[in-house]
Amino acid sequence: MSVEYMERVYNSYSGVYDFLFGKVFQSGRELGPELLALSPETKLLEVGVGTGLSLPLFPRNVEITGIDLSEKMLDIAKKRASDLKLKNVRLLKMDATKLDFPSQSFDRVFAAYFISTVPDPVSVVKEMKRVCKPGGYIVFLNHFQSEHPVMGLIDKLYSPLCYRIGFRTDLNLRKLMKDTGLEIETIEPIGMLGHWKAVRCINPAG
Ligand SMILES: C[S@@+](CC[C@H](N)C(=O)[O-])C[C@H]1O[C@@H](n2cnc3c(N)ncnc32)[C@H](O)[C@@H]1O
Repeated sequence: MSVEYMERVYNSYSGVYDFLFGKVFQSGRELGPELLALSPETKLLEVGVGTGLSLPLFPRNVEITGIDLSEKMLDIAKKRASDLKLKNVRLLKMDATKLDFPSQSFDRVFAAYFISTVPDPVSVVKEMKRVCKPGGYIVFLNHFQSEHPVMGLIDKLYSPLCYRIGFRTDLNLRKLMKDTGLEIETIEPIGMLGHWKAVRCINPAG
């Protein structure tokens, strides 16, 4: 699937996204601020910010940039930021494959339920690394392919179907780390079945 396909999928979902994926994934989003170890004036980039469900969870003294491919998801995020008077938030339409920021622009990069929605996760993670300062945290909340042989096979079989509706289920975390030169610093299960993980990495120097 192409980036354009995903843009269409999420544009079409936008009106029901919060109803379908709001509450059910909120406990994961709530881990974000702690895992990101935010302090005043931290520059935080949220890639695939969607409808901005994480935005109210961050302290207001953090400088947040949220980017997303889908204009319609962003419109909802913008309304949320405006309704909540989140003056520390800027929201931009952008493709995470080609982040339009200079290298080392951010202290932290957050990807909540996003990395399995892109056609080429390796190149997107490399972009996330590029814009993050060395030593900064990169945090993923995501479903990764189960390491259990049977569950892992089910993840693989279901993946093409799930990808049609917006996310793949067979993203292999260890391989992603290896291919992008990232290392897991902490990992914890989120949600009920334990296949969803909160993963924190430290951006290596250079
Ligand atoms: C499953 S939603 C997650 C939204 C939000 N982070 C959350 O916690 O609900 C995935 C989001 O990633 C966005 N997305 C997919 N591919 C993208 C890309 N290449 N660049 C930027 N955003 C992208 C989609 O438009 C969608 O809003």
